[in-house]
Amino acid sequence: MSSCPRHHVDPFGSAYLADPYPIYATLRAEQPIYYDATLGYWVLSRYADIKAVLKDHERFSSRNATDPFTPVSDETRRVFQQGGYAMQRVLLNADAPTHTRIRRHVYAAFTPRRVAALEPRIRQLCHAFLDQLATQPAPVDIIADMIYALPAQVIFLLIGMEHDEVPAIKAGSESRVLFTWGKPTAAQQVELAREMVDFWQRVVAFVDRRVREPRDDFTSDLIRQRAGDDSVLSMAEITSVVFGLLLAGHETTTGLLGNAVRRLLGEPHRWQHLAQHPDALPGVIEELLRFDTSVIAMRRHATCAVTIAGVTIPADANVLLLIGAANRDALHFDDGQAFAPDRANNREHLSFGFGVHYCLGAPLARLEARVVLQELIQRFPHARLVADQVLDYLPNTSFRGPRRLLVHLQ
Ligand code: HEM
Repeated sequence: MSSCPRHHVDPFGSAYLADPYPIYATLRAEQPIYYDATLGYWVLSRYADIKAVLKDHERFSSRNATDPFTPVSDETRRVFQQGGYAMQRVLLNADAPTHTRIRRHVYAAFTPRRVAALEPRIRQLCHAFLDQLATQPAPVDIIADMIYALPAQVIFLLIGMEHDEVPAIKAGSESRVLFTWGKPTAAQQVELAREMVDFWQRVVAFVDRRVREPRDDFTSDLIRQRAGDDSVLSMAEITSVVFGLLLAGHETTTGLLGNAVRRLLGEPHRWQHLAQHPDALPGVIEELLRFDTSVIAMRRHATCAVTIAGVTIPADANVLLLIGAANRDALHFDDGQAFAPDRANNREHLSFGFGVHYCLGAPLARLEARVVLQELIQRFPHARLVADQVLDYLPNTSFRGPRRLLVHLQ
């Protein structure tokens, strides 16, 4: 197995970024748990093993979930310090008891009522984008012209942030993806840190506005729950939650929608079928989540030695969980490499994680995918992909979706 692996994963390499799935198939078959010395991570690719780690939050901590792969330099530290960057461990990279306390409060503000109330607003946003798209010369870049900004506008509605901040927050969250899940050079790291400081300061200023002018939104709810008591939730924790959602709430959905449009237009009969049968969309979306998720990897840290499927992962080891690989494991999903919306167990994908860190935004992501795809397909039932385009992906381990996608809409 593991001490002398035959294959090595370079998650920043061009082959992996363009299509990691053939590499995943080889790993699952030949070295499902191995130590990758170049990455410094134990790499897992089978469904059962990854689910076992996700379930075992006591022995597998989330404390490394947002650790950068490039060690943080002194200069980067100075940039953060001077910019007042004070991100706390709140959800994704926190463990009990902090994680349990904060998740409870966030859950209480992320109400089903608040998510359901977004549906008509998402439709309105879609109509505005689609009207605009219809006036553009062919082909359009469906990412730049719709899918890039729409999910950010939706999460802004929920959080209560002003829409004129969308371009700056989108740029800031892309910098955070590259800083945390990419492999920047030392010089690039400092530049990304400056952009993250700008992102952070915008969030601090926004939370401060909501302290002074509370409204009916998620952020004002968190401030109300806190009622001035730091032991309930500190202001730095609230700022960190909002900062986190201002990445998790749109990078993911933008990626999923980009993958979805690409996949469905890659087999045009599926797109046309959905134009006639929109009721089939929820099932198709589950299969899209399984087959082509936008969050392909997550991380954990072993707090003690743990044996999984006969392999001992030592204490203090970093672990990379290849969710994209788990989702196509034929040991769990029959003919896992086939896109098959009718499969009975497609909701068992691990795209939203599993266990105590299960994605808080899953209902919103499903709602957005359903509304956006339905509106897009109904407006442009004869859309088709521009042939032979080469897709480009942001070089990072975890967030995956095409950065451009050229489409003839009519
Ligand atoms: C297709 C879209 C999405 C995907 C594939 C996705 C995926 C994930 C995954 C895999 C996790 C678990 C991470 C782990 O266990 O380490 C997670 C957690 C999380 N997601 Fe999502 N997500 C999506 C959309 C969203 C949206 C729209 C929001 C917010 C509105 C959101 C907010 C969160 C938060 C706050 C967590 C951390 C939960 C915790 O640590 O307790 N996600 N997401």
